[in-house]
Amino acid sequence: MLKLPGLIDPHVHVREPGATHKEDWDTVTQAALAGGVTTLLAMPNTKPPIFDEATLNIALDAAKSKARCDYGQYIGAGPDNADIAASLAPKAAGLKMYLDSTFGELRLDDMTLWMPHFQKFPKSAPMVMHSESRTMAAAILFSAIYDHPVHIAHVSLKEEILLIKAAKEKGIKVTCEVCPHHLFLTKGLTGFKNLSGLPGRGEVRPRLATQEDVDSLWTNLDVIDCFATDHAPHTLQEKDGENPPPGFPGLETMLPLLLTAVDDGRLTVDGLIQRLHTNPKRIFNLPDQPETWVEVDENAVYEIKAADQFTRCGWTPFEGWKVKGKVRKVVLRGKTAFENGKVLAEAGYGRNVRG
Ligand code: DOR
Ligand code: ZN
Repeated sequence: MLKLPGLIDPHVHVREPGATHKEDWDTVTQAALAGGVTTLLAMPNTKPPIFDEATLNIALDAAKSKARCDYGQYIGAGPDNADIAASLAPKAAGLKMYLDSTFGELRLDDMTLWMPHFQKFPKSAPMVMHSESRTMAAAILFSAIYDHPVHIAHVSLKEEILLIKAAKEKGIKVTCEVCPHHLFLTKGLTGFKNLSGLPGRGEVRPRLATQEDVDSLWTNLDVIDCFATDHAPHTLQEKDGENPPPGFPGLETMLPLLLTAVDDGRLTVDGLIQRLHTNPKRIFNLPDQPETWVEVDENAVYEIKAADQFTRCGWTPFEGWKVKGKVRKVVLRGKTAFENGKVLAEAGYGRNVRG
């Protein structure tokens, strides 16, 4: 039995408010616990988006009554909410800036809209960028110019990881995360099983990349500060429909996939703990969770099945994958929150990390 600290996922799309047919605070925190995640940080591209005090309170009220694990809620950077966002920083997980193609309404195309956020958002509070390719280079330049740390979400390309490496070597305050789907899947669905002929299911932003990109992420593992799921549940009906929305669920598959990589000798247990606990705890200023741990049977071999998951979305891009390493028990602040396939923490047990 392997004992891990409570895992932290800094990138989760909860879907409440606004799209609870995909997921809500109850199901997403059940999925989190089943995946060994005891703290999740929720993205603001909900309906309505979280961009001021009233919308932040809508999300936090729902979380307070439903969450079964600990949580924080990001505020979204909009075209004219820099003052409000900065004033709400103590209550928020951080500021999320959508600088590139994404799902939802929060998107800042013009760089003049980035400036007030870099000027006003407190330097000690996390700023997370959805910024791909050259937009990511611009975000790193902003970090250097405004001397504000930035965290780059879901790095997927060789050019991105190499630029982050170079920026870190220059002393620029940039950190980054990589998602399991960008580490285990490549574009053209070649990494998928059972999904040929259903291209909508492969839609995700950032898109799945080439084998060369995937290899570069593994080669530059030391540049990767965190793993994060970008858990983005959409129903199968939506994924297989006319305009498939981008996104994959990931909370229940991240740890088994990474433990399988440990078994394959591609990652160490220590490296896993660094990127799923130690580094995100530091980068996102998260409180201690006393008496909290995850018990894993490292030798359990099994197939990933959507039917076994707690997420409401009803599918996984890793259906049928054989993995090694199963979460047996999760203890959160002294209480057994998950054991042998059952969520035991009650709705409302979860605490706001900024509470
Ligand atoms: O694939 C994605 N899904 N990328 C995003 O940027 C948003 C997310 C979602 O909310 O579905
Ligand atoms: Zn996301």
